[in-house]
Parts: sequence; C-alpha cells; structure tokens
Amino acid sequence: MPAIHLPQRRDRIRAALVLGTRPEAIKLAPVLRAMSASPLFDPVVISTGQHREMLDQMLQRLDMPSGRDLAVMRDRQMLSGLTARLISGLGEAVREDRPDVVVVQGDTTTAMTGALAAFYEGVPVAHVEAGLRTGVIGNPFPEELNRRLVAPMVRWHFAPTEGAAANLRAEGVPAGDIAVTGNTVIDNLLWVLGRGEGRSAFTTSRRRVLVTLHRRENQGETMHGIAEALGSLAGRPDVEIVLPLHKSPAVRDALLPVLEGRPHVTLVEPLDYFDFAATLDACDLVLTDSGGVQEEAPTLGKPVLVLRTTTERPEAVEAGVALLVGTDPAEIVAAADRLLDDRAAYERMAYAVNPFGDGRAAERIVDRLAADLAGAGRSAEPGGGLAVA
Ligand code: UD1
Ligand code: UDP
Repeated sequence: MPAIHLPQRRDRIRAALVLGTRPEAIKLAPVLRAMSASPLFDPVVISTGQHREMLDQMLQRLDMPSGRDLAVMRDRQMLSGLTARLISGLGEAVREDRPDVVVVQGDTTTAMTGALAAFYEGVPVAHVEAGLRTGVIGNPFPEELNRRLVAPMVRWHFAPTEGAAANLRAEGVPAGDIAVTGNTVIDNLLWVLGRGEGRSAFTTSRRRVLVTLHRRENQGETMHGIAEALGSLAGRPDVEIVLPLHKSPAVRDALLPVLEGRPHVTLVEPLDYFDFAATLDACDLVLTDSGGVQEEAPTLGKPVLVLRTTTERPEAVEAGVALLVGTDPAEIVAAADRLLDDRAAYERMAYAVNPFGDGRAAERIVDRLAADLAGAGRSAEPGGGLAVA
C-alpha cells in the first residue's frame, strides 16, 4: 500500500467536506462553521447530491455553499448504481481538488465512497461520527456495512461517545487515532435553538407525537404495519401526530395509503432544520427510526420510542430516555399508550440528558486536525499512528 502522507505545513489546510444527504449536511455544518472561523482552514463542500430536495433545503438554510455538486440522485436509486456514480464522481473530484484532508460523516453511501475515493487518491480521511455499531451486519442496511468498510481507510476517527471509541479499539484501531468529541448534531441543535427562528408544526393542545420514518430495512410491509400502528395511536381522543414525510417514494408508498386524510395525523413535507428543532422541542413524545433524531431528543428531554430492532446508539437507551420497541405494530401501540397513560412512566423518561455531546464536538475535531496537519512530513496511513515517514 502506498503511504499516505500528511501534507507539508501550510498556512491554510484545504479540507474537503464530502456530504450528500440531509443528516450529513446537518452534522457537518458545525465543522464547516468552525473551519471557516479558523485562520488555518480553507474548507470546501463537495456535495454528491445523493439527496436532492432534502439536501438543498439544508445547505441553503444552514448557509453551506458547495464547491461541487455531483448530482448523483436518481428516482428510487439502487445501491449498486448509486455507489458506482458516487465512486466515479468523487474519485474525479478528489483527484482534481487535491485536498489535504477529506472529511466524511456517518454511514451513508456518500460517506463510504468518499472515504474510498480519498484512500485511492492517497488523501487522509477524517471520519466524523466514527465507531457506531449495532453488531448486526444487515441492520441497519446498508449503514452497518458502510461504517465498517470506512474504518480501515480512516486516519482520524472522531467518535461521538466513549462507547463508540471502545467499538473501534475492539476492532484494532490504535487508540491514538481516535478522539472522543461528542456528536456534532448537538452543536447544531443548540446553535439552531439559540437563534430562535424555528416554528413548530404542531397546532394543537392534544398530546403531541412527532414521527419520522425512512429506514430501508423497514420499507415495505414493516413500514406499512408501523403506519397502521400510528393510525391506531391517532384514534386516541387525546393525540395529534405530526409526521414530516421523507422524500423517498418507498416511504410514501408505505405510509400514504394508511395515513393520508386520517384525522389527527398531519403529514408535512420535510421541515427545515430550524422548524424541525422547534417541532421536536414542542412535542411530548417521539417515535422514530432516525439516527439523528435519537441523538437530539434526549437533549430536549423528549422520550423516544425507537422503531427498529437494533440501535447503534445505546447511550440514549442506557440513559433511560429511549426505548428500543421494534417494529411490531401491537408493541408500538402498547409502548406509546403506556407512556401517554402512565404519568410516572412518562416522567421517568422525560428529562434532559446529553449522552451525545456538549455542543463543542466540531471545535474538538477542528483543533485535532489543526494540531496534526500542522506537523509536516508525517505518515497518515490508517492505523499507522503518527510514524515518521
Ligand atoms: C439515505 C442514507 C441513510 C440515511 C438517509 C437520511 C444510504 C444508503 N442511505 O437513505 O443512511 O439515514 O439517507 O435521510 O446512504 N429522494 C428524493 N429527494 C430527496 C431525497 C431522496 O426524491 O431529497 C428519493 C429518491 O427517489 C431516492 C430515494 O429517495 O432514490 C432514496 O434516497 P437514498 O439516499 O438512496 O436513501 P435514503 O433512504 O434517503
Ligand atoms: N430532520 C429535519 N427535518 C425533518 C426531519 C428530520 O431537519 O423533517 C433532521 C433531524 O433533526 C435530524 C436529521 O434530520 O437531525 C435526521 O435525518 P434522517 O432521519 O433523514 O437521517 P438519519 O439521522 O436517520 O441518518
């Protein structure tokens, strides 16, 4: 393997932030802000356009201009075609731009191919939100595979929690290549709430239940069953559901036939991050299969029912704010009813806790990159520590 060399000392470090989906924009926005505020960095956003409307909405609202847009999204894209378009476009972008570091986030196909393209081009990779694992290769699909594939290609593993760092060490990643930073989503949530610009989508005095759904492994029958459970929950005399619909047609295929026109179910287009944060802040209970929402809800003391069979974010469950309820409709309704009817059970879960960070993750990430990239001529081989080349 050719050694990947850290760049020579520079006045400004050219960092390429590769992103393509809504959560990557949300979680890299604080990193971009911190780099833009530093005299040491010249950040550029490489947008893959894996998402179109949902990404553009975030890039615009969070003021993140992109230097490139690979526009890879296709309607109902298949993973193989998406991967092919991404690796080809990203390889070319990294080859032309020659950044000093490529930053990827999370476990999307954009993140996996972004790391691979950088590795192929000999550019060191920084992975934000490293080390999350369910331990089940097919769940979530394909994210658990993506993040495991990314790890060996990475020079800097920015783990959000001690648990994520432990997962990486257990896979043989040298401790010196890992930094526990907190999750940048908390930086952004606190920043957005602090600006006070968002508007809640709830307009009711009923109990407010916020729902998001999109996972590939839940699409089809499973998601249809979840929709039935939501319909039944909305049949209670005291509940109002707000569900911002993901743009994925597979999600809409499963949800709309059951929930469209249903009383006390408000289906809305994806909310911008300011409005989503305000809606989360206004709700009483969250039902979700989203990764990011599981991280945000505990900060605001909102109980979360995780509509999945696994989670790579056990910290919220351990803190007592989230319950992994699975995807069985009867179980979902029973768990929601319990929280809505049993005040003590609700209050046991409804307190603010921050297992995912203190709002300073981006600062730690940028400080670490600045410290390491200021050192000239050192090897950036993944797993190679800071060996002198
Ligand atoms: C992707 C990520 C997932 C992440 C999620 C965040 C992969 C394989 N999946 O899943 O890890 O949790 O984003 O939301 O990387 N679409 C639009 N407009 C949009 C976005 C999507 O029309 O703005 C439609 C398109 O038809 C597209 C489909 O949704 O083909 C699926 O998008 P895709 O990015 O492949 O998967 P997600 O389920 O969004
Ligand atoms: N989100 C948003 N508007 C919405 C729904 C979600 O801004 O209408 C935000 C949410 O706050 C979280 C992120 O999108 O930060 C989660 O994205 P998603 O659920 O699509 O992906 P995941 O986190 O599961 O990868």
